[in-house]
Amino acid sequence: MKLILLLLVFFLSAQAYAQDDNASQSGADHHEGHGQKGGEHGGGHGHGGEGHGDGHEHEGGMHGGGHGGGMHGGGHGHHKLDETRLKQFFEPLPESIIDEKKNAALIKLGKKLYTDPRLSINDKISCNSCHGLGNFGVDNEPTSPGHEGKRGGRNSPTTMNAALHIDQFWDGRAGTVEEQALGPILNPVEMGMPNAAAVVKKLKVIDEYNTLFAEAFSDERNPLKYKNIGVAIGAFERTLLTPSRFDDFLKGDKDALNESEKRGLKKFVNMGCVNCHNGVVIGGNSYKKIGLVVPYETSDLGRYEVTGLETDKHVFKVPSLRNIAKTGPYFHDGSVETLDEAIKLMAKHQLGRDHVGHGMVRDIKAFLGSLTAKDAE
Ligand code: HEC
Ligand code: HEC
Repeated sequence: MKLILLLLVFFLSAQAYAQDDNASQSGADHHEGHGQKGGEHGGGHGHGGEGHGDGHEHEGGMHGGGHGGGMHGGGHGHHKLDETRLKQFFEPLPESIIDEKKNAALIKLGKKLYTDPRLSINDKISCNSCHGLGNFGVDNEPTSPGHEGKRGGRNSPTTMNAALHIDQFWDGRAGTVEEQALGPILNPVEMGMPNAAAVVKKLKVIDEYNTLFAEAFSDERNPLKYKNIGVAIGAFERTLLTPSRFDDFLKGDKDALNESEKRGLKKFVNMGCVNCHNGVVIGGNSYKKIGLVVPYETSDLGRYEVTGLETDKHVFKVPSLRNIAKTGPYFHDGSVETLDEAIKLMAKHQLGRDHVGHGMVRDIKAFLGSLTAKDAE
C-alpha cells in the first residue's frame, strides 16, 4: 500500500516536474491560514514546574509529523509554489521548544556537561568534540575519532535541531535527546567510560557539579545521578535551534530567498525530494531506504539492527537538511564528500533520475544553502 502510494507520488511529482516551467512562483499567493499550526510546538516540553521526574513528555506532537504520503494530492497537483502548497510540506522552526527561563539552571548544567571532556575516560573527548557548537553541531569528518582515535562506522549527525527529530541516531535507536545523551559517554569507541557509576563517581568529586546538579534538580534528594546527566544535556540540546532565511520565507517574507534559491526550492518540491525531506526540520520525521529506486551499495543494515524487520534493511532516518551546506561529508557513513554529489546520488537512488543537469544541482544546492543558520551567514 505504502509502495503504491509512493509510486503514485513519484508519478505525480514527475509529471509536475515535466510541466515545470519558469513561471514566477510569487504569483497566486493565497495568503490564507497565516495562523498555521503554531500550537503544536507550544508547551509540553518543559522540564519546568514540577520536577524532572520520569514522564518527560518530549515526544508529544513536536515534530509536526504527518507529512507522509498523499502530499501531492488534494487538488494541488499543479506546480505553483503558492503559500498554501508550501505549508503542506514545510513548517518554520518554532521560537523555542523549552522554557529557557524556567529551565535556566538545567540548561546551564547541560551546556557544561556537553562541553566537558571529563565525561570521557581520558579527559579528552566531549560531546562538543564530535558535535561542535561553533561548527553547526558536527566535526566535518567522515566518521569520528573517539577517545582512542578509533572510529565508529557512522558519520556524526548534527545536534542542531536534533531534538525535533522523530527519534535519535541514523537508525532511530534512541527516542529522545535525553535518552541519546547517555549512550556516547559509555560507548567504547566514543567517550569510553566503563559504566554509569564510574561517571557519577567522577563528577561527584567536582564541587562545581555538586552545586550545578543541586540547582538544576532542586527538588531531588540525590540530584547527581546518571540519568540526570541525560536530562540536563537534553535540555541544553533543546535550545539548539537554528532559524534560517527559509523560515523567514515560510513566514511570508518573499524576499528572504534569492531567485536561484527559489528555483531550487521549486525543483526540490517538484522533483520529489520533499516526499522525504519535509516538515519542520526538512527531514528527521520518517525512515526511508537508501536506494529506494536504484539500489545503493552499503553494508550498513540501518534500522534493521533496531527492529529486525527484513523491510528495514538499509533503512535510515531521513536526515534533516537544515545547515546541510555546512555539515559534510554526507550520508550515514560520511562517504560522500560534496553536496553536489549528495544531490546527484539522491536524485538517482531515491528518485530514479539519472541525469540531473548542472543548473538543477546548482539551484537545489542554492536552496539548501538557505537552510543555514541565519546568525552564521
Ligand atoms: C566520538 C564522536 C562522538 C562523541 C564524543 C559524541 N557523539 Fe553524538 N554521535 C556521533 C555519531 C557517530 C553519531 C551517529 C551514530 C549512529 O547513528 O549510529 C552520533 C549521534 C548523535 C545524536 C543523534 C542525532 C541525530 O540526528 O540522530 C545526538 C543528538 C548526539 N550524537 C549527541 C551527542 C551528545 C549529547 C554527546 C555527549 C554526551 C555525544 N553525542 C558524543 C559521534 C559522537
Ligand atoms: C525516498 C526518500 C528520499 C528522497 C525522495 C530523497 N531523499 Fe535525501 N535522503 C534520504 C535518506 C534516507 C538519506 C540518508 C541516506 C544515508 O545516509 O544513507 C538522505 C540523505 C540526503 C542527504 C545527505 C544528508 C546528510 O546529512 O548526510 C542530502 C543532502 C539529501 N538527502 C538531499 C536530497 C535531495 C536534494 C533530494 C531530491 C533530489 C532527496 N534528498 C531525495 C531520503 C530521501
